[in-house]
Amino acid sequence: MRQILLAGNWKMHKTLAEVKAYFEVFLKGLEKIDLSGKEIMIAPPFTALAYSRKLTEGSPVKLGAQNACWEEKGAFTGEISPMMLKELGIEYVILGHSERRHIFGETDELVAKRVEGVFRLGLTPILCVGETLAERQNQKTLEVVKRQVEIGLKGIKELSQRDLVIAYEPVWAIGTGITATPEQAEEVHSFIRDSLLRLYGEEIANKIRILYGGSVTPENIASLINQPNIDGVLVGGASLDPEKFLKICSVTL
Ligand code: PGA
Repeated sequence: MRQILLAGNWKMHKTLAEVKAYFEVFLKGLEKIDLSGKEIMIAPPFTALAYSRKLTEGSPVKLGAQNACWEEKGAFTGEISPMMLKELGIEYVILGHSERRHIFGETDELVAKRVEGVFRLGLTPILCVGETLAERQNQKTLEVVKRQVEIGLKGIKELSQRDLVIAYEPVWAIGTGITATPEQAEEVHSFIRDSLLRLYGEEIANKIRILYGGSVTPENIASLINQPNIDGVLVGGASLDPEKFLKICSVTL
């Protein structure tokens, strides 16, 4: 059984005062929730990572970063090393998010470099993939996702001792209030599972968690999580409100 990963992506939100207020509510609420079979992760902005670690110490909350470089150190102005993240107790790194690809021009090749480096330096990459609305309308969804998965993972050959997560986030569903239907998501998730099977074999492919992201809410989480190949969610907007994210974390498995 794959453990369900319920992950929040705060994007470029929250000052330290807001982070404090959030965790006061969230950690208290989390104590009342049955977390068996679930893993909770939040990815604050870089500036709030150390403080978030301090506030969540001893709680079930794991932390993620929203990007990272592929090198340990060096002349990479504006980048953050996976070693710096590890030092803070960060376990996950979201990579290739649609906003990185579409606003900041990150290509499949660049994302692949980041995935390889983050993995090599001991953190768990969450590789995000997903088609635009035009690509879906032109029946290109599976082709695009296949390319993003295959190139994104090309630096990762050996997975038997380590973890990796994929997040399917259709670009047209991110921040739009339009969620993929559970059937639409499941079709792509099972396609990704097949791609993983070809890359790593059945045993490993069955262990890798594939998250859905794009307008996930307390209302639609249950129908998504019920699909056989949806192993969790990556939540943007609804993770910013502790009460809403608590409801998402309360989903019955
Ligand atoms: P959303 O964002 O939940 O606000 O649609 C999801 C994401 O970008 O990870």
